[in-house]
Amino acid sequence: MSVDQTALLNAAADAAWHAYSPYSRFRVGAALLTGSGKVFTGCNVENASYGLTICAERVAVFNAISEGEKELLSIAICSDGAAYPCGACRQVLHEFSPGLVVILGDSAGNHSDQQNLKDLLPDPFGPGF
Ligand code: THU
Repeated sequence: MSVDQTALLNAAADAAWHAYSPYSRFRVGAALLTGSGKVFTGCNVENASYGLTICAERVAVFNAISEGEKELLSIAICSDGAAYPCGACRQVLHEFSPGLVVILGDSAGNHSDQQNLKDLLPDPFGPGF
């Protein structure tokens, strides 16, 4: 199965509707394409103890890894204003896929930008150390 960018962006925009974000009111959705051709999604899940909040990107990564996926190819991330992934998520993505392609979109799934994780996280700390 080949999943194109548009399908991945639409999956991320759909996932954002599951966001639990009563504190920030900011919905984020992520859709991760793996080497096996499957797509794993995630949304941000907040908590009354704010620091326990988890971002959409990390939910998607943990979903994929916990289902046995070994290779992460690309991730689409959708939110209002097509926000870029936070530093913590860049680090977690790097752990599993330094060569990941990161596709940004708005909350309707419209393409905004495409970046290589290498450029979003220069001089990374990783498993090699
Ligand atoms: N958020 C994400 O889901 N991904 C990011 O990369 C940045 C921030 C979420 C966390 C929180 O629920 C809300 O956006 C506001 O920070």
